[in-house]
Amino acid sequence: MSIKIPFLSKQPKESDSLSEENAPNHVAIIMDGNGRWAQKRGLPRFAGHKEGVSTVNKIVKTAVRANVKVLTLYTFSTENWKRPKQEVEYILKLPKEFLHVYLPSLMENNVRIQTIGDFQSLPGYTQEAVNYAMEKTKNNDGLILNFAINYGSRHEILKAVKQIATELKEENIDIDSLDEEAFSKHLYTNGVSDPDLLIRTGGEYRLSNFMLWQLAYTEFWFTDKLWPEFTEETFHEALLAYQQRKRRYGGI
Ligand code: IPE
Ligand code: IPE
Ligand code: MG
Repeated sequence: MSIKIPFLSKQPKESDSLSEENAPNHVAIIMDGNGRWAQKRGLPRFAGHKEGVSTVNKIVKTAVRANVKVLTLYTFSTENWKRPKQEVEYILKLPKEFLHVYLPSLMENNVRIQTIGDFQSLPGYTQEAVNYAMEKTKNNDGLILNFAINYGSRHEILKAVKQIATELKEENIDIDSLDEEAFSKHLYTNGVSDPDLLIRTGGEYRLSNFMLWQLAYTEFWFTDKLWPEFTEETFHEALLAYQQRKRRYGGI
């Protein structure tokens, strides 16, 4: 069955319609290019991060309307601590700013906030704002908006291995019972299905330590558009491209 896209200002052609059956359940986005967007305009890098926040709001709304169930956004990586202190602080204050402005609309849209990453090592102001939003939205059963903050895939996998090693040492588990499903339960994404579609903006073709385990069979879609330039139409383009892919999972 084909549906018209209500979120587009101009109605798409019939061939451009998204079909309900094979819409991606989980979309993950590496939101890259904020700094270059600002530099191109002679602005400081933080202006790009600020502009990127309004893109987040637009894309969340689009995801809700397109019936996406989980939207994971790479917000801050474990490697981003290498940036100048002021930039790190600016980025880590953005969740607070975003939630301050948009939490009412997230509630209206039945969105539930979650996070993946090393949350305890984040500054208090980030933890407080996100904890408040998680608590406030915990009974919403619409889109899961999953922020990857202080997230690094290698850190996540190592953490899982350490937990399993401890359980083995304490003889709480039997090594033969450890399969992919049991391993996945030790990852931050426990309970969330793997991404169906990964989008990276900003013209880079790499994962930058993002969801290495979870992306094993994900479809990738790249765009040169910088994150602040990423629009509903670009998102729509990515969703359509996804629907034209044939996923085989090693079969024929
Ligand atoms: C992505 O934009 C945002 C974060 C990594 C936090 P960048 O800040 O990496 O922007 P570019 O890649 O330098 O343009
Ligand atoms: C990836 O972008 C991290 C986020 C989008 C949060 P980076 O800009 O940090 O990636 P690299 O350093 O170019 O690989
Ligand atoms: Mg970058």
